[in-house]
Amino acid sequence: MRVLVTGGAGYIGSHTVLALLANDIDVLVLDNFSNSYPQVLKRLEHLSEKKVPYVEGDILDVPFLEKVFAEHEIDAVIHFAGFKAVGESVEKPLKYYNNNITGTINLLEVMAKANVKNIVFSSSATVYGMTNPVPFKEEMPTSATNPYGYTKVVIERMINDVAASDPEWTVTNLRYFNPIGADKSGDIGELPSGIPNNLMPYITQVAIKKRDHLSVFGDDYDTPDGTGVRDYIHVVDLANGHVQALEKNMAEKGSKTYNLGTGKGVSVLDLVHTFEAVNGVKIPYEIVDRRPGDIATCYADVTKAKEELGWEAELSLEDMVRDSWNWQQKNPNGYEDSSDGSSN
Ligand code: NAD
Ligand code: UD1
Repeated sequence: MRVLVTGGAGYIGSHTVLALLANDIDVLVLDNFSNSYPQVLKRLEHLSEKKVPYVEGDILDVPFLEKVFAEHEIDAVIHFAGFKAVGESVEKPLKYYNNNITGTINLLEVMAKANVKNIVFSSSATVYGMTNPVPFKEEMPTSATNPYGYTKVVIERMINDVAASDPEWTVTNLRYFNPIGADKSGDIGELPSGIPNNLMPYITQVAIKKRDHLSVFGDDYDTPDGTGVRDYIHVVDLANGHVQALEKNMAEKGSKTYNLGTGKGVSVLDLVHTFEAVNGVKIPYEIVDRRPGDIATCYADVTKAKEELGWEAELSLEDMVRDSWNWQQKNPNGYEDSSDGSSN
């Protein structure tokens, strides 16, 4: 079986490529490297000891997509390609609606023409919006508070509508909670551009002294220590969830939606203190105002993924903070340091 992995050079995509190869599933990576680097592919080859074929191009480019499907035998698609910065999506909504939604429409149309009617899509816990009670369950109503979130709500809907219109389609929406961590090797990981928006990359940049302290966004939430609570999941567990979801997707037609989280809530200060204790590095922080749009608490009900996919997260918070720090230390300048990670 060969899977087209759109966005396969990115943070979650690269870890998923490694998991697919470890399970003897062939891949074809498609990426335009708008938020990643071709060196990632060399590192994946080094880590997997396999060839990682790829095509460089854009899902907005329909002739390019048609050529990819005409020239390669593809059985299914895992679709990561998209923009993900919430703040930027508020400033440049059309950039997000175009890349994420138009890109997905193009992909679905070209897939249908090529008769490849099998897709796993990267959705997000952001679709649970501001008002659902925790733990979040798949059947709860979806909504969003920013253009990025709306792209996920709309794409899920679009994919489900496509499956409803044609029984040959089989589709899975995976709602990720908060992926952090990196492959144990420290050779692939998350590479935010500019100032990180997300908590874990901010912490590692404080730890390596790129930034002098962390701003904790609010300590007056209705949570045990007043700081925001999230469901952090190791990216390697998340990647393995894709392999299980793909296997289920190949076996059973229709649409499915699963939460991929641990089911456990961890506060900002829990994460900071675990990072300090495991890695022996101090993280200076300051409490500042809440970040607009943040909710107090977000964690998954993971029953459905466990029962239907036979998947559950295995790695601990300690693994997550250790592996995030290992990646940051080995790659202070991201992928610029070496081509395949082997000399790092
Ligand atoms: P990422 O930016 O590291 O990876 C996305 C990849 O897609 C990048 O390599 C980028 O170059 C590529 N890409 C973007 N637009 C493209 C286009 N038009 N054509 C071809 N390639 C394109 O992001 P990630 O963290 O790996 O996230 C992957 C997916 O998971 C995204 O859809 C994201 O919205 C979703 N997601 C991420 C998180 C998270 O916290 N990282 C949480 C929930 C959902
Ligand atoms: C954010 C996005 C969400 C996206 C998710 C994964 C927003 C409003 N939400 O979620 O749509 O799906 O990333 O990409 O951007 N925090 C600090 N200081 C920081 C950074 C974060 O205190 O410098 C706190 C936040 O207030 C939150 C927690 O840390 O309580 C986690 O934040 P973050 O990593 O940005 O993830 P989410 O807010 O869950």
